[in-house]
Amino acid sequence: MCGIVGFTGSQQAAPILLDGLKKLEYRGYDSAGIAALCDSGIHMEKASGKIKNLDAKIDGGKALEGNCGIGHTRWATHGAPTDENAHPHLSNGGDFALVHNGIIENYAALREELIAKGVTFKSETDTEVVVQLLEQYYDGDLKAAVLKTVGRLEGAYALGILCAHEPGRVIAARQAAPLIVGVGVGENYFGSDVTAMVAHTKNFIYLEDGEIADLTPDKVTIYTDLGEEVEKPITRITWDVAAAEKGGYDHFMLKEIMEQPNAIKSTIEPRIQNGEIVLDDFHLTDEDLKQINKIMITACGSAFYAGSVGKYVIERLCRIPVEADLASELRYRDPLVDEHTLLVVVSQSGETADTIAAMKECKARGARILAIVNVVGSTIARLADDVIYTWAGPEIAVATTKGYTTQVAVMDMLAVYLARRLGRLDDAEYARLVDEIQQFPSLVQRAIDLNPNIQGLAKKYYNHNNIFFIGRNLDYAACMEGSLKLKEISYLHSEAYAAGELKHGTIALIEEDRPVIALACYEALFDKMMSNIKEVKARGAQVLAVVLEGNRQIFAEADDVIFIPKTEPMFNSLPEIIPLQLFAYYVARENGCDIDKPKNLAKSVTVE
Ligand code: AGP
Repeated sequence: MCGIVGFTGSQQAAPILLDGLKKLEYRGYDSAGIAALCDSGIHMEKASGKIKNLDAKIDGGKALEGNCGIGHTRWATHGAPTDENAHPHLSNGGDFALVHNGIIENYAALREELIAKGVTFKSETDTEVVVQLLEQYYDGDLKAAVLKTVGRLEGAYALGILCAHEPGRVIAARQAAPLIVGVGVGENYFGSDVTAMVAHTKNFIYLEDGEIADLTPDKVTIYTDLGEEVEKPITRITWDVAAAEKGGYDHFMLKEIMEQPNAIKSTIEPRIQNGEIVLDDFHLTDEDLKQINKIMITACGSAFYAGSVGKYVIERLCRIPVEADLASELRYRDPLVDEHTLLVVVSQSGETADTIAAMKECKARGARILAIVNVVGSTIARLADDVIYTWAGPEIAVATTKGYTTQVAVMDMLAVYLARRLGRLDDAEYARLVDEIQQFPSLVQRAIDLNPNIQGLAKKYYNHNNIFFIGRNLDYAACMEGSLKLKEISYLHSEAYAAGELKHGTIALIEEDRPVIALACYEALFDKMMSNIKEVKARGAQVLAVVLEGNRQIFAEADDVIFIPKTEPMFNSLPEIIPLQLFAYYVARENGCDIDKPKNLAKSVTVE
């Protein structure tokens, strides 16, 4: 929900911290602030609104002296996005500055306890209790003060700590919120994800829950919240800064839409060897597989819609019951899960709080956990029994595109892999499906190239609200994702409906000029969809149909038509989402929306 950064070295800290915050802005952008330590103590500047306001206030960082510091960009949870509530927070005596991502669940009790001791509070945030506790516990031993403080906290936190009496030293503490240490030469960093630090180092230490990093320019010490030092491996990442830049596109979202053929290629190519799907990272023995009598898929948002695609495809090929359930529901519904359940957890960031909670709930009930995630070393990746990474590269736009399509590609690959291992596919069918999967990158490229008129269509529909997305079977799963894309970046209301459901109520909403986007790519149900299109047309709807290229029947009914390239019908979800992504993007552009950073949203929802 928020992004935090820290630096200690020989350079001025503030410009480095500001640059890091800009890379994390997609995680939250209500307000931002930086604190740096120099000879005269801790200096701090904060600003509500986007990071550019802070940038202007501190002249790109030059106005804030000091070679060690911490920074924060906020997605408000407790307290409005004001300067007072912006992080960093200072202790009353000015001895400490602190930044925080997460929620301190027991902050009210701690606040009362501190007020009783005469501590005054300047903000409405939960975070401020932490910095006041630090000052209460500090008696010259910073490590002891930090251990005592985190020992009092309940909830989720990634903390960055700066102490006025400890020049050149910054502390980072992790509990159920992402936090990574960047290891430099004569300088060290911490951040909420690697994009904040990759311009300076490619060597990272992924902190686990309960671990604390104690950084000076020449030393990284990691210890547990019990104070015991631990040795941690250094992971070297392979992608570079350019991967986290816009690359000449107006928006990260458009860049990431165009990157999808390569992202899918990177995801599937290493896993198809000599015509065989090889999932080395999935250590499921034949005996394990025999024990599985149910597959559950859980995720949030777009990841859930990718999981919904997986439900259709895996169930159809494997003939095992497959449930897809929202993580925020699954975690509280006392699910029927045991050692015979394979739980597939889908997440781009690997840090979504609801998804982690659902995963832990099912793990505790004996389920085997397979994670499909994009961020290496993320919490979900580390908690799972097996991990299949979607090698999409860093996804910066809040609205996921390549994150979603690589998840769908993995779902399709997983379905074919499992069906083969279960003996459900003969050699010819297996070879045919594997070949179709190998065509995915070119299939998606063709879906991008096939519709140069999307921007024109967006101009026709951009000022309509309450848009219907209707479809059946796998087309319905694509409707859900297409509708979310439109809602979250253009702020136009739309809803996805199973087309067969319209007659049970929602057709009452159809009136003159109501836009209806009808996905009719699943040929086995095309005639049913034509009936639904006729029904809404008869009531005045404007119909934009998405169909397979070469379909001529559709022109008899639809006002506008988008074509998608043909593939195995089960795999339609990949090409058919591409025009819907582009449609949402161009509608949002027409409406002048902040496409990469939509209001009220954050890239990774790490709080409940
Ligand atoms: C997608 O466009 C949204 N930003 C959101 O629904 C997202 O998919 C959801 O929060 C899950 O995130 P995750 O994949 O990182 O777990």
